[in-house]
Amino acid sequence: MSLASVIRSEQALLVPTYDRYKILLQQGSGVYLQDADGNRYLDFLSGIGVNALGYRHAAIQRTLKKQAGRLIHISNLFFHPYQAKLAQRLTKISGLKRAFFCNSGTEAWEGALKFARAYARSQSRNGSRPRWRILALDNSFHGRTFGALATTGQAKYREPFAPLLSGVSFVAFNDVVELIRKFDSSVCAICIETVQGEGGIRPVSPEFLQLARKLTRKTGALLVLDEIQCGLGRTGRYFAYQHYGVEPDIVTVAKPLAAGLPLGAILTTNRVAHALHPGMHGSTFGGGPLACAVAIEFLSVLEGLLSHVSESGDYLRSRLDWLKAKHSCVREVRGLGLMLGMELDSADRAKAAVSQMLQRRIFINRTNENTLRFLPPYIIQESHIDQMTRALDEVLSGDPPQPIRQRRARKSTRKESQN
Ligand SMILES: Cc1ncc(COP(=O)(O)O)c(C=O)c1O
Repeated sequence: MSLASVIRSEQALLVPTYDRYKILLQQGSGVYLQDADGNRYLDFLSGIGVNALGYRHAAIQRTLKKQAGRLIHISNLFFHPYQAKLAQRLTKISGLKRAFFCNSGTEAWEGALKFARAYARSQSRNGSRPRWRILALDNSFHGRTFGALATTGQAKYREPFAPLLSGVSFVAFNDVVELIRKFDSSVCAICIETVQGEGGIRPVSPEFLQLARKLTRKTGALLVLDEIQCGLGRTGRYFAYQHYGVEPDIVTVAKPLAAGLPLGAILTTNRVAHALHPGMHGSTFGGGPLACAVAIEFLSVLEGLLSHVSESGDYLRSRLDWLKAKHSCVREVRGLGLMLGMELDSADRAKAAVSQMLQRRIFINRTNENTLRFLPPYIIQESHIDQMTRALDEVLSGDPPQPIRQRRARKSTRKESQN
């Protein structure tokens, strides 16, 4: 099928929720993707943070094949060996004690909100009204289902679907004075993306996160962190909150967890878990044997990659800072590890930069209108960062693209698929 015929069919058949780049992708290897015409693209986006190990990673392929040959799905009516094993890994690296598995980020977040309300209810005494208010942050993004939308601090996502879940108030990002003003004993949870992703790659300030922890500890409310984009190694530590010395009551993860298969998780404390009992929450697909077996393999590979993520993140940051010093249109470079953003002076310039990078066969994208987002696979090497930086330098300088050597992707070798 040609790109033109796929576009025609999708236009006729799909609900029009996506505005896709006009590229028909066919395969990937290492940090490269290849389209139907054989053009190769350097990937600094990882399927929005999912493909942390790039494409065709040998260990992931092996586990996938082995487990797919044994058992893909059984429902949560029965046991299989991998949920507990995966929970053991996730609790060990997070410091939390319990896990619940689902299929996506928004579903993890939705469950986290339910857990917060259920916990508040379990704690209410003498017929008093359980804490119900949820504080979330301006500019945040937690997903597309109703609870997630209700706590997403960007009106453009919420408004078409109002009215949403009640009891949610928004606090200006990193504004400690407003947090103190809006917090009281009716709050059951403070919800924070440790590093805002869709909101423009903005790490929460240590002062704000520590205050949120202090306030919630005082009343028994929960600190709920969304690490769906920034968690699981993206910032160079297992979890972004580990940069802050703060422990949450609940953390949600998803994107890279099963290396491209849909899997999300809610991690929490024993105290919160005890507020739930069988039948209160569940999922048909969540935590199936295939996704869990692959996630266990992902975490094994990740263990050996964390320091590489930190070092590559520092290197990418230094190259983006160099571009900032050189180009007056760059306002700020922000982020942690391999989750970096470059804010430009206008949305139009950022939009043009993404499409000009695409002409140079490099994937980045734009978030929060004017911020270029860099989420490369964790296996990225300095040479790839140099290639991307050179192209972005050209784009920001307004230079025309250099002719691209037509280079068909070779059949991947084992080495290539691992870098
Ligand atoms: C921080 C954050 N939370 C939640 C979500 C929703 O995840 P999903 O698209 O898997 O539902 C996203 C997706 O981009 C995200 O970045």
